[in-house]
Amino acid sequence: MPSRPSLFPLSAQDMEGRLTLGSCDAVELAQRFGTPLYVLDEETIRGNARQFRREFAERYPDTSIIYACKAFIHPWVARVLAEEGLGMDAVSAGELFILRQAGFPADKVYLHGNCKTYEDISFALDMGVGRVVVDNLDELELLERMVEGKGKKMRILLRLNPGIDPHTHKFLTTGGVDSKFGFPKPKAEEALREAMKAKNLELTGLHFHLGSSIFEVEPYIQAIESVLGFAHRMRKAYGFILQELDIGGGFAQPYTLDSPSPPLSYYAEAITAHLKQGIEDPSPLLVVEPGRSIISRAGVALYRVGGRKETASGRRYILVDGGMGDNIRPLVYGSRYEAVVAGKLREEATEKVSIGGKFCEGGDIIANDIFLPEVELGDVIAMPGCGAYCLPLQSNYNASLRPAIAVVKNGEAHLIREREKYEDLVRHDICGSLEDIPGQ
Ligand SMILES: Cc1ncc(COP(=O)(O)O)c(C=O)c1O
Repeated sequence: MPSRPSLFPLSAQDMEGRLTLGSCDAVELAQRFGTPLYVLDEETIRGNARQFRREFAERYPDTSIIYACKAFIHPWVARVLAEEGLGMDAVSAGELFILRQAGFPADKVYLHGNCKTYEDISFALDMGVGRVVVDNLDELELLERMVEGKGKKMRILLRLNPGIDPHTHKFLTTGGVDSKFGFPKPKAEEALREAMKAKNLELTGLHFHLGSSIFEVEPYIQAIESVLGFAHRMRKAYGFILQELDIGGGFAQPYTLDSPSPPLSYYAEAITAHLKQGIEDPSPLLVVEPGRSIISRAGVALYRVGGRKETASGRRYILVDGGMGDNIRPLVYGSRYEAVVAGKLREEATEKVSIGGKFCEGGDIIANDIFLPEVELGDVIAMPGCGAYCLPLQSNYNASLRPAIAVVKNGEAHLIREREKYEDLVRHDICGSLEDIPGQ
């Protein structure tokens, strides 16, 4: 991949002008499994998991990397990351269910979420998750009652909102002063007192997560200083010992060639250096929760070109058979993507085009003003950086079918999710006239 090496999976290659992923020809994959198709590269997922463990552990050995599975989860991903020694951050009974199905070690799961339901907590307690990260006082009360009711004990962390702007898209910011997540600074002390008093709950640590796609290290440093300062005051006041500091995820990934992200070592160095300066004995476990940076680069979306158009103003569109139904990020976050024509890697990219999806929304544009070679009907467009937050946010808008997913490795493609069928669209619908459907 001479032109866009850093955006595609590690295994991507340019084989005489044709894109291969895991030594599988992308055009053939599109043909075999249909489009849109999401392709995941195992080598990239494992490589990223190992790099995370290495970069942090060599600077701060007592580190645990847990994958934020909201970025994308499937039993296969859970198994691979269990093999790589990662833990999991889950936010719902649904995510927990998938992890349990995969046989993921429950004690390595952290339950997050800002409005955990009775069902979420109940599932987590029955499954035996390792930690619950408590977001608010109502939840603390509910958790305490439920843990006692089930005759269990639970380790908890408190999610603090350090009130720091990570300079990312406002919808991706979770640690700013107005955010709905975590205990705001003025409430943190009360939360800690209550948590220390709570029966059958052991407060082991503190958590923050500032947001996602964060390109700078300064917000992490400020948050670490703020939370360590708080821990220090709470130690003096109440004897609280910080056994675990969970700094969330949020590390930026590149989506376009003009917005490269810093290397992981840059974040790891700054974070661990500041942590080492500020900690007291005993030194806490450092927990890091990457999502996007584990899986984003591993995923490539393949689309088939179904039309071309030039508007009255001269804007040129390539129209494809997917779009906001499988990738809503451009519409919600203004995210930018690059793309290539999978069978024409060596043709000169001379045409400035935008890629329009097939959905009935003017905003359904998944790439804007990118350069491609001359595109023909039936060409396969390959879009890199689609491993994270595309499929988890997908919809059946326009009664479209959710795409298939294939994992590629050593020249073989393994279908890990079938494309939906039309029957799936009405699977939960109760059909008939109201005389046939009993009133309740
Ligand atoms: C609590 C928490 N941790 C970690 C993450 C992962 O963030 P990212 O995928 O940007 O690494 C998220 C994402 O929203 C999160 O909410």
